[in-house]
Amino acid sequence: MMERAVGLSRRGFLHRIGAAGGYAAAYSAMVSLGLMATPAKAGPLQLPTNLGAGKSVVVLGGGIAGLTAAYELERAGFAVTLLEARDRLGGRNWTLRNGSKVEMVGEATQTVAFSDGLYMNAGPARIPSHHEGLLGYCDKLGVPLEVEINSSRSAYFWSAGSNGGKPIQMRQGVNDTRGYISELLAKALNKGALDQDLTAEDKQKLLPFLRAYGDLDQGMTFKGTERSGFAQLPGAASQFGKGRDPVPLKELLANEQLPSTLFEDVVYMQATMFQPVGGMDRIAAGFQRAIKSQLILNAEVLQIRQTAGGVAVAWRDRSGGPNQVAQADYAIVTIPLNILAKIDTNFDKPVKAAIAAVPYDYSNKIGFDAPRFWEKQQIFGGISFVGGDTGLVWYPSNGLHTQRGMLLACYGSGPNAKGFAARPLEEQIAIARGVVGRLHPGHEAEMSNPVVVNWSKIPFNLGPWPAWPGAAGQEGHLDDPAYRLLNEPHGRVYFSGAHLSQMPGWQEGAVLSAQRTLGQIATRVSQSVAERRGERPAA
Ligand code: FAD
Ligand code: ALA
Repeated sequence: MMERAVGLSRRGFLHRIGAAGGYAAAYSAMVSLGLMATPAKAGPLQLPTNLGAGKSVVVLGGGIAGLTAAYELERAGFAVTLLEARDRLGGRNWTLRNGSKVEMVGEATQTVAFSDGLYMNAGPARIPSHHEGLLGYCDKLGVPLEVEINSSRSAYFWSAGSNGGKPIQMRQGVNDTRGYISELLAKALNKGALDQDLTAEDKQKLLPFLRAYGDLDQGMTFKGTERSGFAQLPGAASQFGKGRDPVPLKELLANEQLPSTLFEDVVYMQATMFQPVGGMDRIAAGFQRAIKSQLILNAEVLQIRQTAGGVAVAWRDRSGGPNQVAQADYAIVTIPLNILAKIDTNFDKPVKAAIAAVPYDYSNKIGFDAPRFWEKQQIFGGISFVGGDTGLVWYPSNGLHTQRGMLLACYGSGPNAKGFAARPLEEQIAIARGVVGRLHPGHEAEMSNPVVVNWSKIPFNLGPWPAWPGAAGQEGHLDDPAYRLLNEPHGRVYFSGAHLSQMPGWQEGAVLSAQRTLGQIATRVSQSVAERRGERPAA
């Protein structure tokens, strides 16, 4: 079958797609043909409903990328088969509840024993409001959302060498730091140190702003602020509120976690953040409800072969059935690259080399069942930052004012996480428990039934996300040659998934990558249909 786009003018071709599939399809096609830059903001994908008539696609991997692909392909009339190695859908979108099993390479299986209603999102746990692709599917699939409280000014940041080992409250860290910096900048302005950089008029306007910004006194000195919290609460009659003494600048600077006071300003972390009610896996469940095509679980892909007219995928039934082969016109491969590298394929050498070249990061989470002692300290959701091997303590956003909650006592990624995951699980648990004791002395003993997730040991992922060369990991400006190559179709195989987006550590990346792939397939199929009808000469 010849599918190369020749003959029909690009304009005519786009007009035809537009007529068949509406603006969104034409737009996807234009993007695929390189006529428009990839959109910064994805609109809802809308493929023509009859586009896939007589065409088949096998989707490898049932994470968010694979599910997005299967859902949209089915709606566009393709015959779809999805092969997923695990006994559940969702991939990294995975929620642990009482009775869940956590299998890790080289470790004994853990069985989660949480109180009723508690859950731990082992992978994704928050959705920013600008992740409109994923939020759009939550809407379409009827997945109820609630606010994920990503930061709390009542939470802490802590480091051993600062403030006598006592944690500093976020509201104090944020506002005292701002006060000192405002005072220093005002001093510099008044000394004329910035006269080269500012006009006299700017200076005149900046000084009163700094006074307000840092809550400085008349003499432009920072002496503390009520914004940092009360030493004495305002009350009835003449009980006046009194602000706390500021933490000395030296102690703030000595705290290695001081930059965590900026966490809530990171664009991916800014309010309003969301979470699905009841656990992140409600999204995978929503897709599962909506998709009628074959979603085959326990189907571990062993071999991928491009053939003359399609793709043949050999898979093993992990539940004990015979090995099988799935044939289709196209394959969408969402299997993480580190796992794909070990699968037998007849891909070209450069493609194989690109797949094998991408290292994967490390990430660990440890959750406990605990009475809500943090809420007695006015912490309702949000995060305390502790750095080191365990990174942070994350308080639940749901079930406020109930008896027990799931306390995430470790979430660390990167090089520290590698060393931490190498420790025995009992040691990891003891360290995480000890860190909670630094923040909430005496309460560490109340934490029970821990569960450890070391993503580098989780089968079928063996890592949380790729560490593409030159990128931060979870998100970045990825433009590596291997990244570019794998973002192009290889014959009838399309690689897709969060790892091929600018957000490898976000579900939105999985959605956007899958939608881009669907746009590419839509263009190709439309071209081949036009060729068959003789509306365009075959190449
Ligand atoms: P995956 O979910 O990895 O799907 C790939 C699928 O392929 C899996 O289901 C796997 O089982 C399957 N597979 C593998 N091998 C085979 C085989 N041989 N045969 C058949 N199937 C196979 N995102 C957010 O939006 N918010 C967050 O807060 C967030 N936090 C995160 C925290 C952690 C610790 C981790 C690990 C991830 C987090 N993410 C977050 C990122 C998010 O989980 C991923 O970007 C997204 O889920 C990836 O989807 P995917 O479909 O591309 O890949
Ligand atoms: N994006 C992921 C998070 O929010 C890694 O934790």
